Amino acid sequence: MILTSEKLKQIFKKKKVILAPMAGITSFSYRSFMSKFGVSLQYSEMISDCGLIYNNKETDNLLYTNNKEKLFGIQIFGGSKESIIKGIKLIESRKLKYDFIDLNLACPVKKVIKNNGGSSWLNDLEKLKNMVIEVVKTSKKPVTCKIRIGIDDNNINLYKVCKILQDAGVIFIAIHARTQKQLYYGEPNYKILAKLKDFLKIPYGISGNIFCVEDAKKALDESKADAVLVARGGVGNPLLIKEINYYVKHKKIKHFNKNSNLQSKFLLDFAKRLIKEKGERKAISLLRGIAPKFYSNFKNVKEIRFKLSTITSYKELIDIVNNVKMMEK
Ligand SMILES: Cc1cc2nc3c(=O)[nH]c(=O)nc-3n(C[C@H](O)[C@H](O)[C@H](O)COP(=O)(O)O)c2cc1C
Repeated sequence: MILTSEKLKQIFKKKKVILAPMAGITSFSYRSFMSKFGVSLQYSEMISDCGLIYNNKETDNLLYTNNKEKLFGIQIFGGSKESIIKGIKLIESRKLKYDFIDLNLACPVKKVIKNNGGSSWLNDLEKLKNMVIEVVKTSKKPVTCKIRIGIDDNNINLYKVCKILQDAGVIFIAIHARTQKQLYYGEPNYKILAKLKDFLKIPYGISGNIFCVEDAKKALDESKADAVLVARGGVGNPLLIKEINYYVKHKKIKHFNKNSNLQSKFLLDFAKRLIKEKGERKAISLLRGIAPKFYSNFKNVKEIRFKLSTITSYKELIDIVNNVKMMEK
């Protein structure tokens, strides 16, 4: 199936949750673990065009998929039209199965914008237009984009950017409702998106501060977006996806029971997948950042969360998780 904006609109009527791309988190294991809870789209971590061009080993690892992921987008970032197109051609030469290419026009990280990548594309709309037109023309797969609402409060070019992307043939836009300057902090501006509903023909998704189902409701209501992206709020809290899906289906808020036994089960499921994909050493290093988040909403587990942030082996992880059960008794 070739993805189109119309197909996406149909999909989003029922499945509004998108798993947001997150560097260092949305590995194949994370995606396959989270997708069971009901997501419509999922993305790779951001892939550097130069990493592809220079055959970087870590870039190689980031592209790992079992080729059965649905609907799966590979997100690329880069600082020039030529290098992005080269990168996309290299992805195409790998015979990976994916449904769309996503252009990262949102990253605010210094290292990326210094090299003209990520959200720095929003600084020069002629250059942006030229690049996106070429990318859409060249890519064998449909193209989507992830953007921010602008550079800073004095430079919000959301509507112009969206029009450029739509006219170039982009089929979906995910919008982080913060400016480049805000990085990941402060209130996202959902309301600024509302008029896109009548302005655009293609669907758009809203991202920013989605930590609970009430946040998702507010973001969807205020932005009138077709879909909502779950990022930090979903890490260690996979049932958030089910809660949003429940809300979309029943128009009622319901909080699912998230007891520590269940959270431990989720954590071990994810940890096993990650170890299988990356090997114990690398997986444990990643888990030190992610595992404590599975117990964020519990009282009296401060010590356990600290211990999880310093684990050195899978055995240690299991011992700690067993202690979580003991604490509840
Ligand atoms: C650790 C981390 C890594 C991220 N990596 C990416 C990325 O690779 N590509 C991207 O488009 N956005 C990335 N983002 C942005 C998220 O997709 C999302 O838009 C942002 O976190 C706002 O949503 P939230 O406030 O609900 O977390 C990242 C965010 C975080 C926190």
